[in-house]
Amino acid sequence: MMRIVGISGSPKKEKSNTQFLLSKALEATSADTRLINISEYDIRHCTGCDSCVRKKTCPESAHDDMPKLEEELRKADAIIIAAPSYFTSVPGVLKDFIDRSRAMKMLDHQLKDKVFGALTYAGLRYGGQEHVIDVLNRYALGQGMIVVGAVGSPVKHGTFGSGSLQTDEGSWRSALNDELAIKGSILLGERVAYLAGRIKDSEVRM
Ligand SMILES: Cc1cc2nc3c(=O)[nH]c(=O)nc-3n(C[C@H](O)[C@H](O)[C@H](O)COP(=O)(O)O)c2cc1C
Repeated sequence: MMRIVGISGSPKKEKSNTQFLLSKALEATSADTRLINISEYDIRHCTGCDSCVRKKTCPESAHDDMPKLEEELRKADAIIIAAPSYFTSVPGVLKDFIDRSRAMKMLDHQLKDKVFGALTYAGLRYGGQEHVIDVLNRYALGQGMIVVGAVGSPVKHGTFGSGSLQTDEGSWRSALNDELAIKGSILLGERVAYLAGRIKDSEVRM
């Protein structure tokens, strides 16, 4: 069965908007899914020692949860990362994961050919959503993944799941009441699952 792993990149332990949208994306698939809250894992900073390049190993991985996360990702056919906008980029806890996952790239592109989708949520209507998506998509490209976006109505839906706490009128809501963000997340989940399924089918045929 196809396996899709979602990583929620919010440091919040509960009531995370991005985690909610990620759950909607995963529920929209008929795959075997796993939602990982990055904040529940102990991830040390990358120290820039370059051991992953020279020795194909990360010394920090002997002391934290990075090997557990790597194992989950290696098993996945597709990966969705959801991140809140923090100063128009990803939160530090997620960036630590991104930097430390360099070892997976150096060890023969272990995430190569996995289908990838990105989701985001921000406080403001114009709060850096597109930049966060761009950061995540470029990360996935660097890992050799296959980046996809949401494909829905060309006149209603954007290319990725995103939204904001701030409404058009300037009042406030949570992602639970943000219909377009929920729809965008569902469309992204469906698209990721569809393409991962097609790749899996073609591998079976080969
Ligand atoms: C440190 C920090 C920086 C933030 N920076 C931005 C920002 O640049 N633009 C924005 O619109 N919202 C910003 N926000 C608001 C979050 O993006 C917003 O609360 C989001 O819904 C959080 O998602 P979460 O509930 O999944 O953690 C920031 C919040 C924090 C805590």
